[in-house]
This record gives sequence, C-alpha cells and structure tokens, in this order.
Amino acid sequence: MALPRRLVRFLRGAAASGLAASALLVAGGAVAYDWRPLPEKAKAPKDNPTTRAKVELGKQLFFDPRLSETGTISCNTCHYVLEGGDDGRPSSMGVHGRIGPRNAPTVWNAAFHSTQFWDGRAPSLEEQAKGPLVAHPEMGMPSHDKVMARVKQVPAYRRAFKEVFGGGDPLTIANAAKAIAAFERTLITPNSPYDRYVKGEKDALTGQQVRGMKTFHRVGCTSCHSGPAFNGPQMDMPEGKGFFGKFPTYSDSGYVEKYDLAADAGRNDAHLFKVPTLRNIALTAPYFHNGAVPTLSEAVRVMARTQLDKELTGKQMADIVAFLEALTGELPEMALPRLPSRSGHTIVEAGESQVMGGAEAH
Ligand code: HEC
Ligand code: HEC
Repeated sequence: MALPRRLVRFLRGAAASGLAASALLVAGGAVAYDWRPLPEKAKAPKDNPTTRAKVELGKQLFFDPRLSETGTISCNTCHYVLEGGDDGRPSSMGVHGRIGPRNAPTVWNAAFHSTQFWDGRAPSLEEQAKGPLVAHPEMGMPSHDKVMARVKQVPAYRRAFKEVFGGGDPLTIANAAKAIAAFERTLITPNSPYDRYVKGEKDALTGQQVRGMKTFHRVGCTSCHSGPAFNGPQMDMPEGKGFFGKFPTYSDSGYVEKYDLAADAGRNDAHLFKVPTLRNIALTAPYFHNGAVPTLSEAVRVMARTQLDKELTGKQMADIVAFLEALTGELPEMALPRLPSRSGHTIVEAGESQVMGGAEAH
C-alpha cells in the first residue's frame, strides 16, 4: 500500500527531528501486513513483577475514593472498569466538580501502550499512576505525602504494603503506584470476534466485518493503527518510547474547526498524539483527546479526512465501523473489592476536604 505523500513527509520529518523515530516503522510495516491477536498477558517490568497479592492491593487502591481530597473520587470514577474503562464524558470531572481538559482514555489494555496519556508524557503505568492523585481537576490531593498519610491510617493497608513489598518503609508512593500498575496489567480483553477470526475461526466475523477489515487496511488506517492493540508498534517498543501521529495531519478540513481539533497542541506543542488503541473502541464514545466527536462513525470519517485526506463512502464507513465493533473483547467479570476499614478514625478530615486549590494539574 502506498502511503500518502504528505504522511510520508511528516513521518520523515518527525523521525529526523527525533520526535517519533519509530514512525519510520510505519512506512515499512504497512507493506507486509500481519493481523495479530491480543496477548492474554501483559509483560511486567523487572522491578515490578505481577503477583496475586500485589494485584489485589492495587485493585483496592484503584477503587478507593479516600485517596482523593474530598474522599469522593477514585481511579474507577473516571476509568469505570465495570464497563468500558472510561467515564463516557467528553472530558472528566474530578474533585469539586472540576472539569479537566481531556477525555479519559480506557484503562482496558493500557498495559500494551509503551507510553501513557494522550501526549505520552508518562513512560510507564507506574509513573502514570502518580499523576491523577495530585492533579487539580482529578483527585486533587495536595501532595503524595498526604496521599500516603491517608493510606497509613488504614491498618489493613499498612499490613498489605508490608506483606507485598517488605523492606524497612514499604508505605511509599512508588509502591502504591507499583501496586496500581500491577492491577492495570490484568485489565486485558482477549477473544474478541476479531481475535477468534485471526486465530482461524472463520465465522467469528460477519461478511461486512471482513470487508471492513480489508477496507481498514486498504485506505491506510493500519499505517498508524497496526499491531495486536491497533496502537502501532507500541507492544514491541521499550517502555517510554512512544509512537505518535500528528493530529490533524491534514488540517484543511472543516472537521478541525467543527470539533476544535487543533486547540490542544499535544506533545511538544507539535500536535503529536499517541496513537491510541482501538480495542473496545465501540464502548468508549465520545472520541478523541477532547471527546468532541460523539459517535464512532463520525470518528472514522474524521480520521479518514484528517489523517489520510480521504472521503469515505457511506459503505466504506459502515464496513469499517462494523469491523471496529468486532474489536470488543471479553471484559472479565469485575467484582468490587472489599476496601479495608478505618477502625474508628476518620481519614478524610473536615478541614482538609474543604480546602480548594491544591497541586498543579499533572
Ligand atoms: C477525574 C478523572 C480521572 C481520575 C480520577 C483518574 N484519571 Fe486516569 N485519566 C484521566 C484523563 C482525563 C486522562 C488523559 C489525560 C491526558 O492524556 O492528558 C487519563 C489517563 C490515564 C491513563 C493513560 C491511558 C492511555 O491510554 O494513555 C491511565 C493508565 C490512567 N489514566 C490511570 C488512572 C489511575 C491509575 C488513576 C487513579 C490513581 C486515574 N487514572 C485517575 C482521567 C482520570
Ligand atoms: C497518521 C496516523 C493515523 C492514521 C492513518 C489513522 N489514525 Fe486514527 N488516530 C491517530 C491518532 C494520533 C489518534 C489520536 C487523536 C487524538 O488526539 O484524539 C487517533 C484516534 C483514532 C480514533 C479515536 C480513538 C479514541 O479513543 O478516541 C479512532 C476511532 C481512529 N483513530 C480510527 C482510525 C481509522 C478508522 C483510521 C483509518 C480511516 C485511522 N484512525 C487512521 C492516528 C492515525
């Protein structure tokens, strides 16, 4: 497949400037295309092996609203893992009803990204997890020390940190982030109709979905959304090395103004955004970093025009959407964890939860 000239030029430029060195892989990768299923397990970094006790602790922290300034917002508030792993809002609402600037991406399969956030500013799940706790429009805690002071007041957390991490002072923000990241590495959704199809179950996809799969490749979507998670080569890249696309690449379309797509300048103010996963994409409307596009069909039209300079026919669009719907995997049964109790002592103090302000946005 030939890549559009402007895209190739962009990729070369980006590679030359060192912004997206791996982007050249795209040009090579598009020629010999290989449909791959989602792995059922995510690799863990050497210094944070996934263990059952750590995942359990991480799950409790992920669901615990007491880690927010007001005692009302947990990771799960915005990354609702009883459903799509996002919050279904254009942009998120944190403590005191504060609205953040960007759409919440899903945490399902985030373990397969080589960088985290729309602009890839966190190199790992561990680094990412520290941000929202002290982000002004998210959980709003004044400092990581204050977060850990809350954790330390819960006797069963003290015991669990000791058991999982050992050492002299296991109650650290680094360990809390490790536990949360270990839990997130279990949030994987294999066995979508697409996965079953590429593993040989030929009737797992409808005729329209197979057509959509071919169209998805033929029009050039796979030049960015390749690999098992449709997020480019990220699964094969070292942690921290990102894979970005310029969005919008073709800024001369009416969509840019209609959906305000250029207001957020993304990574390095260069309108670079991480190529996001398309796994479970039918579950995570609205779309794009600003959540401005309400439907999947419109998101597909916008992508074709802004990234490939193509107008899709109604049929092409419908076929691609049908294919994308086949990327909805098996979302594992998710039981709410039992959170450890306070033992007769408040951990969200009245004065504390009234304080406005707090740390800078992350
Ligand atoms: C108030 C809503 C809110 C809360 C609470 C919140 N997040 Fe997020 N999360 C977001 C938004 C919005 C983004 C995207 C921000 C950006 O890219 O600039 C994000 C990004 C992420 C990402 C990156 C995903 C990707 O594809 O790049 C992960 C992982 C994540 N959050 C995990 C967490 C964890 C763990 C917690 C709890 C410690 C948490 N979030 C708390 C809203 C929230
Ligand atoms: C040049 C690279 C590139 C190409 C080609 C491309 N995309 Fe994207 N895609 C991206 C980037 C980067 C984003 C994130 C944009 C943002 O900041 O919101 C994205 C976002 C998306 C989203 C929204 C994801 C979300 O979670 O909100 C969908 C859906 C999507 N792409 C589908 C497609 C389809 C279908 C095609 C082919 C018609 C395509 N893309 C072609 C780079 C690309």
